[in-house]
Amino acid sequence: MTEFPTGRWQRLLEEWAIPPEMLDAVPDSPYGWSPELWERRVQIAREQGIETPTNLIIGSLLPHNGTLLDVGAGTGRASFPHAQDHPLTAVEKNPELADGLRERAAELGVAVRLIEGSWPETAGVVDVHDVVICAHVVYDVQEIGPFVRELCGHARRGVVVELTPDHPWSGLVPYYRALHGLERPTGPTYQDFVAVVEQVCGTSPEVEVWSRSGQVWFESWEEILDHYGKRLVLPRDRRDELRDLLAPDITEEDGRYFVGSRERTIVTVSWPIAR
Ligand SMILES: C[S@@+](CC[C@H](N)C(=O)[O-])C[C@H]1O[C@@H](n2cnc3c(N)ncnc32)[C@H](O)[C@@H]1O
Repeated sequence: MTEFPTGRWQRLLEEWAIPPEMLDAVPDSPYGWSPELWERRVQIAREQGIETPTNLIIGSLLPHNGTLLDVGAGTGRASFPHAQDHPLTAVEKNPELADGLRERAAELGVAVRLIEGSWPETAGVVDVHDVVICAHVVYDVQEIGPFVRELCGHARRGVVVELTPDHPWSGLVPYYRALHGLERPTGPTYQDFVAVVEQVCGTSPEVEVWSRSGQVWFESWEEILDHYGKRLVLPRDRRDELRDLLAPDITEEDGRYFVGSRERTIVTVSWPIAR
């Protein structure tokens, strides 16, 4: 039987689910970010500047005073660089991140209309905007068909999606294997996402693959073990084992610790809207 790209996307994301007995054995959710680490990412993104391929594409699609919609905005990392010149609407489902977005907007003096809730469920109360941006969200979305359909449906000029080439947890695959004997899926990838856009929106998007230095660094081994211990669903009494496993992949510079490659590959998928 033919598997459509939206079905393949959903199946592969479902395969990333962590077995419930592993989750039951630990006190913390593996999915969150500590506020300190997230703030550091945002700060580094700010230092890295606005001239990313994603921002250049957004800028080329936005008309003078054109409006921007940021879906899964987090604390505004992807859209705030444009918000001085363009009316911005942000959709964010996580109340803590929505609060963070309000605070950052106030700090920076950025005007933003915030819709708190999940996409596409909130799509009915959101107007069509000139450009829709959605950065580092799609691997969270199993029901990708309606999600992408509403991105297309809310853009007058174009849609820009930024994502990693493969699932953000792909780098954890060898650690899951070593610590739990658990195999993880090999997809979905950005090519699967392109196929979803072709299926749902009937257009072949532009794809740009680029790289930047990573935005996550750690202050100490303790912080590394805390973050990776949670991500890898590891009971606290196994942290020595985790330290031994991670040690060959750690580099240190000026008191900052990095795990794995310092360079990150990023993909920008964009398509104009023909109306
Ligand atoms: C990894 S963060 C990226 C945030 C921001 N776009 C950035 O690039 O920094 C993913 C964000 O998408 C939000 N999110 C995930 N699925 C969503 C959905 N269906 N509707 C609205 N927000 C969503 C999460 O709460 C989180 O804030």
